[in-house]
Amino acid sequence: MSAPADKQAVTRYPVDPLIRERWSPRAFADRPVDRETLGSLLEAARWAASCNNEQPWIFIVARKEDGPAFERILRCLVPGNQAWAQSAPVLMVSLARTTFASNGQPNRHALHDVGAATAQLTLQATALGLAVHPMAGIDRDCIRAEFALPDDVEPVAGIAVGWPGDPETLPERLREREKAPRERKSLDAMVLGGW
Ligand SMILES: Cc1cc2nc3c(=O)[nH]c(=O)nc-3n(C[C@H](O)[C@H](O)[C@H](O)COP(=O)(O)O)c2cc1C
Repeated sequence: MSAPADKQAVTRYPVDPLIRERWSPRAFADRPVDRETLGSLLEAARWAASCNNEQPWIFIVARKEDGPAFERILRCLVPGNQAWAQSAPVLMVSLARTTFASNGQPNRHALHDVGAATAQLTLQATALGLAVHPMAGIDRDCIRAEFALPDDVEPVAGIAVGWPGDPETLPERLREREKAPRERKSLDAMVLGGW
């Protein structure tokens, strides 16, 4: 774990250091992520809870040094995300299978469960000193066409993974965002009923 002090979550109640240190940077170091390490991230995702143990998540994974798959994901990101995500050594896209395998009925919880698996992947990455940045800014039609997705498989999010980098390497506008304070609504704003 290695979040800069001014990026760590400021909490009213104690939380595990993993939670405190996770954040979504845009600057990545020019350093690859080996397969063994990526395996740990994917294993963490694999063991997420899911509705009916359906495990509706699928991850397209591409390391920069492994050739064209990385470029295929990169060109399906919106330009604003391409600008910084191109420097990440690993790009992923999370997918959701939106129907239950057993009966073909819609799985209303598929997106929830892909998010849960991604959260586990992210915390495992944080534990290993890696940074993860999720991206809604993807061209879903591009992903669907590029990877020939069946109708019941939905692109959910892009995910940039890498070792934390130097914010000074970012273009000015992004550098400012990289250094901006992290903010959250209050606990009171998200809890009904008290505890
Ligand atoms: C589902 C999802 C989609 C996101 N999409 C983008 C995106 O397209 N581009 C981007 O720069 N950040 C994106 N983010 C990052 C959020 O802006 C970030 O998580 C939020 O501002 C809180 O900051 P933190 O992750 O550092 O705590 C996304 C995050 C999530 C969870």
